[in-house]
Amino acid sequence: MIYSAIRQLLFLVDAESAHEIAERQILRIQTVRSLVDLIAAACRPPAGGSINLWGLTFRSAVGLAAGFDKNATMVRLLAALGFGFIEVGTVTLEPQAGNPRPRLFRFPAERALVNRLGFNNDGARVVAARLDVLRSGGDDLPPLFVNVGKNREVPLDRASEAYRACYEIVGPLADGVVVNLSSPNTPGLRDLQRAQHLTAILEAMRSARTSFPEPARRQPILVKIAPDLTDAEIVEICEVVSRLADGLVATNTTTDHAAVAAARDVAGGLSGAPLFEKSTYVLRQVRRLLGPSYPLIGVGGIMNAEDVRKKIEAGANLVQLYTGFIYGGPTLPRRLAKDLVHRS
Ligand code: FNR
Repeated sequence: MIYSAIRQLLFLVDAESAHEIAERQILRIQTVRSLVDLIAAACRPPAGGSINLWGLTFRSAVGLAAGFDKNATMVRLLAALGFGFIEVGTVTLEPQAGNPRPRLFRFPAERALVNRLGFNNDGARVVAARLDVLRSGGDDLPPLFVNVGKNREVPLDRASEAYRACYEIVGPLADGVVVNLSSPNTPGLRDLQRAQHLTAILEAMRSARTSFPEPARRQPILVKIAPDLTDAEIVEICEVVSRLADGLVATNTTTDHAAVAAARDVAGGLSGAPLFEKSTYVLRQVRRLLGPSYPLIGVGGIMNAEDVRKKIEAGANLVQLYTGFIYGGPTLPRRLAKDLVHRS
């Protein structure tokens, strides 16, 4: 109710400005510890919904997808809202401005977004410093995943070095890492999903991980894939990740805008309700190929509790959302977690 009024106001300004306004308010709230504690008490996911995976405990299966908190500035409040885990990033080795504005667009009738942000972020060193402060702050934080990518100008044949270098800086401060090979907004990035590049990147990261301190040395390395893959490409990826990665995130945004007429000529990745079928198809495929015990995170188009259940039925151990959070508001993570517990 309150959020629908706030949303109406936020939707009066362009989408990226609304995100910046929301971030400024979140930063202000975070300065008042008692307020964060109050929100955490009100939004705590109900008991009985926790999940153990990779030696980590997730108090709810519902996490926040990458891209909302690219620079790890909002983790304390997002944690208080009841997300079972939070993925920050995408983080690149060097800071990067991203593409020119406008680069984020809303399509409320379809409950969708299109973005072509292009990995705007503060860079690995700044984000690592923030994670370090968070880790030593004594907060009760859910598992924190860091999503890593490469800077735009890094050629594909140098990508494994770029991923490794970024990972060496942020990895030791994370509970898990997600290798982003699927953003449509960095030219050529999706080619890194091919077996040869994928193998080189995962081998480089696994080798970096061996020198991390405990417990980071045991952290999972996950791969985030696109929804626009052919069945043959999905098979190729699964063959590599089953040997070299600890989990898979399906999926990122789609370049197929056919479902949203007004977005047909808007370049970028489409997220939200129209992505649901496509991303769930990919999830179902990877579950079939990787077997019943391989860890999978289902993301793409989750707007309500029914969608969460469908992702789990399609094979997800955990789920994430971004666009649903924009349209559904801050109480959505708690509502989804509650529904899962009451239906189990
Ligand atoms: C994203 N997403 C994303 N993914 C990623 O791996 N790195 C990133 O930096 C971003 N950035 C980003 C920005 C914006 C504005 C959006 C809407 C999305 C993709 C996101 O994590 C998720 O995979 C998709 O949006 C699909 O989920 P939803 O939004 O349909 O729940």
